[in-house]
Amino acid sequence: MGPTLPIATAKFAPLLSAPVGPLEIDGPAIISIGHHRRPTETVSLSVVIPTYNEATNIERLVARIHQTLSVALPGDHEIIVVDDDSPDGTWQIAQSLTPIYPALRVMRRTQERGLSTAVVRGWQAARGTTLAVIDGDLQHPPEILFPLWNKIQSGADLAIASRHVEGGGVSDWSFARRILSRGAQIIGLMLLPEVVGRASDPMSGFFLVRRRAISGVRLNPIGYKILIEVLGRGNFGTIGDVGYVFQERESGGSKVSGKQYFDYLRHLLRLRLARMKASRLLRFGIVGLSGVVVDMSLFYVLRHRTTLPIGLSGGLSAEIAIFNNFAWNELWTFRDFSQSQPGARRRLKRLVKFNMICVAGLAFHLGLLVLLTASGGVNEYAAKLMAIAAATTWNYWINSHLNWRVTEAAETD
Ligand code: GDD
Ligand code: MN
Repeated sequence: MGPTLPIATAKFAPLLSAPVGPLEIDGPAIISIGHHRRPTETVSLSVVIPTYNEATNIERLVARIHQTLSVALPGDHEIIVVDDDSPDGTWQIAQSLTPIYPALRVMRRTQERGLSTAVVRGWQAARGTTLAVIDGDLQHPPEILFPLWNKIQSGADLAIASRHVEGGGVSDWSFARRILSRGAQIIGLMLLPEVVGRASDPMSGFFLVRRRAISGVRLNPIGYKILIEVLGRGNFGTIGDVGYVFQERESGGSKVSGKQYFDYLRHLLRLRLARMKASRLLRFGIVGLSGVVVDMSLFYVLRHRTTLPIGLSGGLSAEIAIFNNFAWNELWTFRDFSQSQPGARRRLKRLVKFNMICVAGLAFHLGLLVLLTASGGVNEYAAKLMAIAAATTWNYWINSHLNWRVTEAAETD
């Protein structure tokens, strides 16, 4: 530090340097000092405030967060402003507050931009065992941090401030804006039901998440909806929500533009693809479908071109389908396992086992087929389809437990 520096500046806490590299949160809290990374003292909660031109709001916001957290978590929290070099000097104002609020730290980013990455960079620099995000424009009432923290304390891995539960809402949004907001949620539900459906307000930009639920996974958010990314890639048990009323902006302007809606769609599609790759069950399902095609077409041929009875036709077509499914499951669905257990002998053993499991399933399959068609009440092909569905469910369960022995850990590959 040179002597030319104004005295007042010298008292301010130094700026945090923006982390670079992959958008991944470390497991235990780690701090980067230059190129050295070392474990550091942790705090219970780190609240990240992403800002872009929030000069008129940041002081009041920090004061209110401080007020709330000095009651809930005295001396055990930190507040991190991540500002993208705002032209209105938000980062400077925030930094000037650091002597008043020792828990406050400021990151000024110049190399990277955007709301979602700002949040992740803030979390990367954070020391908290629980990580939070709140908007910098007072539209999210900071007092809600208190009940959100209580949710985490009572066991939730993720606590979301929600507009769509009791006590929640929007102030005076136009009909068009409500429709747009709900429409975005519905599109999300259609594309990613198992992700978007887990939260009452999946678009919320105000939430707390346990570090361990998202550490070690590569986050790859686009645009505004960081929660979608967290929900899609994190590992959660309980998710809690707390109602809040989304306040009108008093000062400054929203940064939302048409591009955000486009980014949101791209984000949903990207997550959809990533999850499809990871889902073993889906691969098993696709293989199962290929087996259905093989089974049904063979069955059709046998019934029309031969005089074999229905039981034998159904049995033969099913057995050929079993070979088809084994090959694809071995090469694709359970590829990781079959590669870790190589060798023709082992593969043959798995084939025999697969066959035995499927034959047991086949007995069940045939019993059902004969039963359903005996009275003549059910169409032969419909009966065959029902039998396939029941046998497939049985097959997946037994196979993933006894044959390819998929463990929970291998499931998140
Ligand atoms: N660092 C950084 N970089 N911050 C940004 C950027 C950026 O590029 N763009 C926006 N921000 C900050 C804003 O300064 C504000 O603090 C916060 O992110 C939200 O931006 P707004 O532009 O005010 O968004 P909004 O009010 O339309 O939407 C917010 O509320 C929704 C409903 O809960 C966002 O938080 C959404 O994510 C949220 O879904
Ligand atoms: Mn806003």
